Amino acid sequence: MNVAVGVDLGGTKIAVGLVAADGAVRAQTRRETPDGPDAVVAAIADAVAELGDEARGRPVGIGAAGFVDAGRRRVLFAPNLQWTDVPLAAQLSDRLGTPVILENDANAAAWAEARFGAGAGADSMVLVTVGTGIGGGIVLDGRLVRGGFGVAGELGHLPLVPDGRPCGCGQSGCWEQYASGTALTRAARDLVVTALAAGTGAEALVAACGGDPEALEGTHVQDAAAAGDPVAGELLADLGRWLGRGLAAVAAVLDPGVVVIGGGVAGNGDRLLEPARAEFRRRLPATGNRPEAEIRPARLGSAAGLVGAADLAREAAT
Ligand code: BGC
Ligand code: NA
Ligand code: ZN
Repeated sequence: MNVAVGVDLGGTKIAVGLVAADGAVRAQTRRETPDGPDAVVAAIADAVAELGDEARGRPVGIGAAGFVDAGRRRVLFAPNLQWTDVPLAAQLSDRLGTPVILENDANAAAWAEARFGAGAGADSMVLVTVGTGIGGGIVLDGRLVRGGFGVAGELGHLPLVPDGRPCGCGQSGCWEQYASGTALTRAARDLVVTALAAGTGAEALVAACGGDPEALEGTHVQDAAAAGDPVAGELLADLGRWLGRGLAAVAAVLDPGVVVIGGGVAGNGDRLLEPARAEFRRRLPATGNRPEAEIRPARLGSAAGLVGAADLAREAAT
């Protein structure tokens, strides 16, 4: 049986799964992301062991939240893990005694959605994952686009706002400073702080965090919006508009047929995607006189990254 192990290494959690050749997840486990590469390697090895005998000796693919080199061995830079130049594939391979390949997390998720999910059948697909940062993955004619140095599709760092908010990549005004889960949480907390100072406003969000802005999370905003709170709904719509604005820039370069939106916020469906579509259309070069990409929610949920990483590892091993 042609199973492989997939790892999704993010800024807050590590998901590890055993994945069959058809993309089905046989078993899955999670760890919180510890500090530093050595602890991460130990945590992944421990998680793989937990998956049991069937996982032992299988090829491993890691989708990591950072810039990965063209050889798929090293994490060059990970803004949300604060890593620079880590030979992660070699370290994990030494530890497990199995072949390991590395890929960018969003590239891995894009690969999974293209093979088994919302992008199946599309010739040209861009995936955007909205989480701690914004990840991007580009699949054209059934191939993952890696660029000259392995780091194509770093869409979160598309410069959208001149002299805008500082970014973990060293630049400012990057897309992910405006349209990520982190940006949503920040905007919601700011609103609550203002409402508390004014003694009125944002009642549902104030209640959700018990009056402590720092306790407010993106999930509170999503739940309040789902329950019909207009303030939370507007925060999500704003996130959607920032998504649409960036996607118009992406379309100017790549002209994708399909855009797949993944990450935790994808579960908001049209509350997020309708404002994104409208803003995309409004900002698209030659809008009204050209075909438009379809913007769809992801289908594979939070497993997309590990499913894609496992598939790439299986492919590399055969
Ligand atoms: C990183 C990307 C990553 C994305 C999502 C960005 O900040 O630069 O490499 O794909 O976050 O995790
Ligand atoms: Na990418
Ligand atoms: Zn950046």
